[in-house]
Amino acid sequence: KRRHSSGSESEPEEEPSSSEEEEEQTQDTEKCSASAGNAEKAEGGVGKAGAEQPPAAPSAPAAQAAPSRAPCKPAVFVPVDRSPEMQEARLKLPILAEEQVVMEAINENPIVIICGETGSGKTTQVPQFLYEAGYASPGGAIGITEPRRVAAVSMSQRVAKEMNLSHRVVSYQIRYEGNVTDETQIKFMTDGVLLKEIQKDFLLSKYRVIIIDEAHERSMYTDILIGLLSRIVPLRHKKGLPLKLIIMSATLRVEDFTDNTRLFSAKPPVIQVDARQFPVTVHFNKKTPLDDYSGECFRKVCKIHRMLPAGGILVFLTGQAEVHSLCRRLRKAFPYQKNNTAGNATETSDLKLQFYHTLPKIDLNNYSVVPVDEGDEDRDFDSDDDAAGSDLDLDLGDGDSEEDEKSDSSLPLYVLPLYSLLAPEKQEKVFRAPPPGTRLCVVATNVAETSLTIPGIKYVVDCGKVKQRFYDRITGVSSFRVTWISQASANQRAGRAGRTEPGHCYRLYSSAVFMDFEKFSAPEITKRPVEDLILQMKALNIEKVINFPFPTPPSTDALAAAEELLIALGALKEPPQQLAAKLSCPISALGRVMATFPVAPRYAKMLALSRQHNCLPYTITIVSAMTVRELFEELDRPAVSEEEAAQLKRKRVRFSQMQKVWAGQGPMQKLGDLMVMLGAVGACEYAGCTPKFCEENGLRYKAMLEVRRLRGQLTTAVNSVCTDAGLYVDPKMKPPTEAQVTFLRQIVLAGLGDHVARRVQAEELLDDKWKNAYKTALLEDPVFIHPSSVLFRELPEFVVYQEIVETTKLYMKGVSAVEPEWIPALLPPYCHFGKPLESPAPSYCPGTGRVRCHRPSVFYRVGWQLPAVEVD
Ligand code: CDP
Ligand code: MG
Repeated sequence: KRRHSSGSESEPEEEPSSSEEEEEQTQDTEKCSASAGNAEKAEGGVGKAGAEQPPAAPSAPAAQAAPSRAPCKPAVFVPVDRSPEMQEARLKLPILAEEQVVMEAINENPIVIICGETGSGKTTQVPQFLYEAGYASPGGAIGITEPRRVAAVSMSQRVAKEMNLSHRVVSYQIRYEGNVTDETQIKFMTDGVLLKEIQKDFLLSKYRVIIIDEAHERSMYTDILIGLLSRIVPLRHKKGLPLKLIIMSATLRVEDFTDNTRLFSAKPPVIQVDARQFPVTVHFNKKTPLDDYSGECFRKVCKIHRMLPAGGILVFLTGQAEVHSLCRRLRKAFPYQKNNTAGNATETSDLKLQFYHTLPKIDLNNYSVVPVDEGDEDRDFDSDDDAAGSDLDLDLGDGDSEEDEKSDSSLPLYVLPLYSLLAPEKQEKVFRAPPPGTRLCVVATNVAETSLTIPGIKYVVDCGKVKQRFYDRITGVSSFRVTWISQASANQRAGRAGRTEPGHCYRLYSSAVFMDFEKFSAPEITKRPVEDLILQMKALNIEKVINFPFPTPPSTDALAAAEELLIALGALKEPPQQLAAKLSCPISALGRVMATFPVAPRYAKMLALSRQHNCLPYTITIVSAMTVRELFEELDRPAVSEEEAAQLKRKRVRFSQMQKVWAGQGPMQKLGDLMVMLGAVGACEYAGCTPKFCEENGLRYKAMLEVRRLRGQLTTAVNSVCTDAGLYVDPKMKPPTEAQVTFLRQIVLAGLGDHVARRVQAEELLDDKWKNAYKTALLEDPVFIHPSSVLFRELPEFVVYQEIVETTKLYMKGVSAVEPEWIPALLPPYCHFGKPLESPAPSYCPGTGRVRCHRPSVFYRVGWQLPAVEVD
């Protein structure tokens, strides 16, 4: 600790201050390459594992002797007491061989990019290098951001374990939880968490290093953080408190960062870590894949397990439900019992023998598939001609594979699920060796693609799909679609098979389909609405968002749509002259409050309005329920067995009964699906939020726990803004009164103002496709109330919706009814009382001249005629 203070003293000199930031970075690089020789001599100062003596002495005198050429690293060495096993495991990681190069680059440059295959040790080792080199001493924490919660939690646990340090020192913080303490020196967090911290402390003064991990994922917040940090780093430099920025990526495609002169004036050095990657033979399916890729995965795993030598299997599927369903099927097929004794092992193998009986026979010598009972579609292990087919023969014809195969086929399969919402202790299981005498099979979503490396995987089964949320950037209409992955993703997935020995990747699609894949997935920021991001940026006083150094900028349309929405919500001040000030509106006081709530701006507006009538607890619950997605179990899913089909049917009946109960009677019902959410959370909490209650009533237990956590968090956020509100989290709420429900409906309308829809009247029906349809502000097409909505049969004249999702039709979800006369009172920005401005004629409104909108907005587009209302 004492050493640290000397380290920080020398630091201001570390990078001489200059008024010209841009020049500075160039100088810095030059200076560092000049001092590289020096640094080499002082190399011992870079913490090599196991070194006991802090050999830091050479750098300190150098700092004093020549301040302008000061060494660029803290003059300390912090030893770490690792267990011999850990030390041995670490030494196998490719990044260990590069420690010196990595540390020199970091010591001598403000910004460094590290590229290395997944599994090369970037996430777990770089923070340790930095710690040993003294970057984490008190007053100078190391922050690491991850786009995925699962990675933040799991990596902090892993690093703590490797370093033999407590979770008080190596901690994590994600949206819902964390274990950060005053002693925390290495902090893993999601990128959103760091963005919030920047709002509180723009210079991030408590950090000495920020590592942006998984930058290749191009998540929206990661991109924005890189943009912000490109400015924060020079500012910290100027202040004499240098901050190091390390960007880590699994791919070499980093030009968006390095060649972007708006971002970094000098090209940051890129360190390539060569991973020991074994060859992976890729096998394509000959046939274009079936819809039932999950079933196809099942068959493929069965065959691998039965016929191929030992080695873990990793299956990529698209979603949690699919993962569980495949796990169940596999466990049933290859039961594994804990405490396997010789006795019940026979039992299990008997079961399996029966099962195997139905599988096709494969002649291992020349490896031709002889489908027995699965017809023409069975092309397993077939490879496309252009896909290294010959390797496969070789591999399977391997001398010892016969033996392996035999022993393997009598093995139980140790099946583990892996997806982001899985509880951490269950996630941790995939890193442990499977029980002796079993084969590991991990069924994962694409969290296993780059964020986590599972040891011992030899076979990858890649369905080629990923579940993604697609948004219309302007209207915000979203749909979850299962789409093809990019070529880069496919290659990442294949790479998972070659970490420890040569492996195989079975792609359930043809090579022709693969050639049609996008090369890379587009950055998230170009794919989704950006209003939440813009609000966060405005809260950082970045008014001219358009000038922000985005690694890849969002489209101006998306920016304009976001700004317009934020103005309508009152979060931004309306510009005096609309056009002149376009895309540079400052934030309003309301906007600042809204930005403190960790939810989307529309929901934040609802929270900001709910002080009245004691509605806050209810709004907090509704907002939490809307934010935590998929509260209700998916009961329409295809069943695996007849038994399951019958069970699902029973559940659907039960659920629709419960839905009616939760929606309440009479006026309560008008809050519609949001009342159902409120009722469901309320009922669940009264029942103690047990898995049993959730299971019986079609609720997702995990989602309910998350709602509970978010309620707690929002309550704290509200209390901090509104210090006299004195809210406390009482999970058990009394049902709201009728008056409160009316008020809640108004709050919802105020927040979802641009999501108003009006039922198309009989006389307006253009054609049949408009029957029971609604007209919304943003879409030309008819939209409908989703059949799962409690208002599906009610068809109120005006509704607001949470979102529109596109399946067979455009469906509104999360619908509640609103009274027409509330609209001009609550949403004046959308209304115009006077002559229509020069906008195109409304589609359905004959136009009375009484109410029009001054910009394309709700009432204008829905062609709403105002009933006689007094508005002053
Ligand atoms: O970040 P990168 O993908 O380069 O590698 P990493 O996540 O640092 O992983 C390095 C090694 O640590 C891998 O071989 C992982 O399997 C292992 N690891 C582990 O055993 N347990 C964890 N909880 C995390 C990583
Ligand atoms: Mg990593």
